[in-house]
Amino acid sequence: MNAARIPLVAGNWKMNTTVPEGLALASELRALALPDGVEVAVLPPFTHLWPLYDALGGRFALGAQDAFWEDAGAYTGEISPASLSGWCDYVLVGHSERRHLLGETDEQVSHKLRRALTHDLRVIVAVGETLDERERGSTIDVVRRQISAAFEGVCLAELERCVVAYEPVWAIGTGHTATPEHAQEVCHVIRTLLDELDPAADGERQRILYGGSVTGENAAALFGEHDIDGGLVGGASLNPAEFFAIIVAAARSGAIT
Ligand code: PGA
Repeated sequence: MNAARIPLVAGNWKMNTTVPEGLALASELRALALPDGVEVAVLPPFTHLWPLYDALGGRFALGAQDAFWEDAGAYTGEISPASLSGWCDYVLVGHSERRHLLGETDEQVSHKLRRALTHDLRVIVAVGETLDERERGSTIDVVRRQISAAFEGVCLAELERCVVAYEPVWAIGTGHTATPEHAQEVCHVIRTLLDELDPAADGERQRILYGGSVTGENAAALFGEHDIDGGLVGGASLNPAEFFAIIVAAARSGAIT
């Protein structure tokens, strides 16, 4: 973490909790004494977004787990970024579960990113290699390809509304967290790539998150790395005590460096 960047902890609930369960979880989150110096976002299922907008009491940023690349039309089941604009803070695009389970392509991720940006949403762009790609030594190539495809045609002002989350696929939901050294190495490359996107870009100002089996126990070591500015948290975000420990670790990492 670098003191110039405010850490972000984003809880991705994925397809978990019913609406009443989500509201109950939100009221537990609302009772937490959030530390200063960290931004905390909650990304619940779409059905929960509007009720949580009230239930979270404005103390947490709110994010959608995805949004479509068109504003309106005959796209059954899709969610328009226009419908999120003005009250939702973040949209996540390119999560590996969408890339690998649903076949989402780099090009589709790029369309979604650009459309969300036209609606003044902030966008978390997830990138990361599979185990097979890692074993073949192509982690950096994969991340470079995903970043350059996603940010194609994005201007500097838009880039500054984006956060990249490095999420090695082999670490997601597996308990096999990347070592802080590995996560730092890749996040550093991501920062360099963001820097190269525009001659005026300042990679040092961009927030880069790590995601993949982040827990209250490993968060401090991960967030202590220079190029890691917080986490995208799945499973642990469903447990308020665990999520709180991660939030505190992020706040401390911002205060120390
Ligand atoms: P995990 O998920 O923390 O459960 O590994 C992270 C993510 O998929 O965003």
